Amino acid sequence: MITKIQLRALRTCHLKFRFATSTINSTSSFLSSRWPQLSGALSTKQTAANLCFANWFSSSTASTSTINSTSSFLSSRWPQLSGALSTKQTVPADIALSVIKECFNTLGREPYFGEPVTHEEHALQCATLAMDEGFEEDVVVAAFLHDIGHICAPEDAPHMDTDGGPDVGVVDHEIVGKELLAVLGFSKFVTDLVESHVPSKRYLVSTIEEYKQNLAEDSKRSLLFQGGFMTKEEVDSFNQEPMKDMKIQFREWDEKGKQPNFVTPKIEKFYQMVERHLRRQEEERQRNGVHCTVKYQPDDQ
Ligand SMILES: [Fe+2]
Repeated sequence: MITKIQLRALRTCHLKFRFATSTINSTSSFLSSRWPQLSGALSTKQTAANLCFANWFSSSTASTSTINSTSSFLSSRWPQLSGALSTKQTVPADIALSVIKECFNTLGREPYFGEPVTHEEHALQCATLAMDEGFEEDVVVAAFLHDIGHICAPEDAPHMDTDGGPDVGVVDHEIVGKELLAVLGFSKFVTDLVESHVPSKRYLVSTIEEYKQNLAEDSKRSLLFQGGFMTKEEVDSFNQEPMKDMKIQFREWDEKGKQPNFVTPKIEKFYQMVERHLRRQEEERQRNGVHCTVKYQPDDQ
């Protein structure tokens, strides 16, 4: 007798399997480093449904840092960061800021999926909500950059559209964004918040019926590619997180920041905050006796 949870797992596996097969030529190495369990199937281009099924039940461990796989992925878009990405070192603040600006200058004016805003407007609205509620500047910076993974990825990045439905963005964008920001020298506080906005959504849809009902259509769709509802163990684990309340608050700005007539400060105000954050980080590294670059520590090390 198959349970509802197993049915949901099969649905997600079906989507992930289609993703794996449709992008197998360009992303097999990317996928196999993210999902070592799939290496054999990817190299032989065979089905992996049974392995995928197992991945659903171990999704909390499968979604750990993917820096080893995303470094080559990111360096194909940002060759100037290749050295830093391969050695897991941060870059100087001025280069980091130029990368952030280039992301917004190239894809920031694109529509934010099915919403009546652009990527840039969504970022500005989320940052403004954080700022207006009196949160510290690092929180505002994280809100501004939380979806950078959608606009910093290479042109051939796998997207969440392989089921034939509308495109709802770059696969694992929260991890791609987190790891780019880590290399650029942002603090762990910022990168953790950026990474959290997908798990927070999974937590909220799993625990609050009203949140689930009111979730935007694009977020409902992307949920299918992001692991779906949390298991009881994942919910219990999220409940123990020291930054749980902050992460939930952060997610609420993400939901609210999609309004067509929302007046925000200009983007330069937030670039200045980003620059101040990067300078503070750089000064801290220099205080610690490290000149310009320092190894950062992904969560899995
Ligand atoms: Fe967002």
